[in-house]
Amino acid sequence: MLILGLESSCDETAVALVNDAGDIRANLVLSQLAEHRPYGGVVPEIAARSHLDHLDGLIVKALEEAGVGFDDLHGVAATLGPGLIGGVLVAATTGKAIAAARGLPFVAVNHLEGHALTARLTDRLAFPYLLLLVSGGHCQLLAVEGVGRYRRYGGTIDDAVGEAFDKTAKLLGLDYPGGPAVERAARTGDASRFALPRPLKGRPGCDFSFSGLKTAVRQQVQQLGALSSQDRADLAASFQAAVAEVLVDRTRNALVRFRADTGQPGPLVVAGGVAANGSLRQALTVLTEAEGTELVAPPAKLCTDNAAMIAWAGVERLRLGQRDSLDARARPRWPL
Ligand code: KG4
Ligand code: ZN
Repeated sequence: MLILGLESSCDETAVALVNDAGDIRANLVLSQLAEHRPYGGVVPEIAARSHLDHLDGLIVKALEEAGVGFDDLHGVAATLGPGLIGGVLVAATTGKAIAAARGLPFVAVNHLEGHALTARLTDRLAFPYLLLLVSGGHCQLLAVEGVGRYRRYGGTIDDAVGEAFDKTAKLLGLDYPGGPAVERAARTGDASRFALPRPLKGRPGCDFSFSGLKTAVRQQVQQLGALSSQDRADLAASFQAAVAEVLVDRTRNALVRFRADTGQPGPLVVAGGVAANGSLRQALTVLTEAEGTELVAPPAKLCTDNAAMIAWAGVERLRLGQRDSLDARARPRWPL
C-alpha cells in the first residue's frame, strides 16, 4: 500500500510517499524560511502563494524520485488543519483532486495526529505512549492510546514554546528562526546570571505558560540597555534553562498521570522543532531515567514539519478501513 502525503499548513511545502511497511520512498520538504525571514515570522499570504507555486512540482519530483506514477498509489492523505487556512487549502484541494481523478481513497489528516503517530513510523512504537509536542505552533502533552485516540493532558495557555524561543531571539537581536540561534548563543553563556521566572513550575497539572518568561527577558534587555555579546549569551542560557526546567516539571506530572491511566511508566516521545534543542533533550533524558522509562526522539527531519508523517497517518487510518469524503472541510482550528 503506497500513500501520497501532502502538507502545507505552515511554512513548509512537503510531499512524501510512504508504504504500509513504513518505507519512506520519498520525503521532500521545501522550506519558505528565506521568504519569511525579512518579516521575522511567517506571513500567511506569502506562505499560501508559495505553497501554490511549489506543491504541484514537488509532487511530480517525489513520484520521479520513488520511480512510481499515479497508477501505483493506493491513497492520498493531506493535512486539513489546524494551520494557516490559505496554506492548508493548497494541499487539501490538490489532494482531493488527485483522489477524485484517480478514484483513490482520501484521508483528511489532522497535522497534530501526524506528529503524534511519527514515532510508530520511525521507531515502530506500540501504543500507548506519552507525547511532548513542542514546536513553533504547538505545545502539548498527549497520551497517544491508539489511532484517533488521543488524550490531551495539557497545553500552553499562551505562547507555544518555539514562539517563545523566536520572540526571545528577536529581543536579543539574534537570527530568525530563533531556536537554533538561542541555543548557539547559550553555549557560551552563564545560565545562573539572570533569575528568570519558571511559570507554573511546581503547580499541579500539565499546562504550560511562556509569556511571563518572555516578558521577563524583555525587562532584562531594557534594564541592560546596549547588550554585549556576553549579556546575550547569559540571557540566552538563562532563558533556555528556565524553559527546560518548566518542560521537565510539566512532563513529570504527565508521566505520573500516564502511569495511573495506562499502568505503564512511558515511553516518552518528544517531537516538534524545539525537540532539536540539545539541553532540552538532555534534561528529558535525565527525567525519563529517573522515572524508570525511556525517551524516544525521532530524527529531526521527521520531527519538524514534513509530509512523511501525513502519509503515515494515512497508512494507519486506511489500514483500519477509515477514509474521508471529498467534502471534508479544511479547518484553521482542529483540536485532536
Ligand atoms: O516543528 P517546526 O519546524 O514547525 C512548527 O512550528 O510546526 O518548529 C519550528 C520551531 C521554531 O519556533 C524554532 O525556533 C524552534 O522550532 N526550534 C528550536 C530549535 N530548532 C528549532 N528551538 C529551540 N532549540 C532549537 N535547537
Ligand atoms: Zn507541526
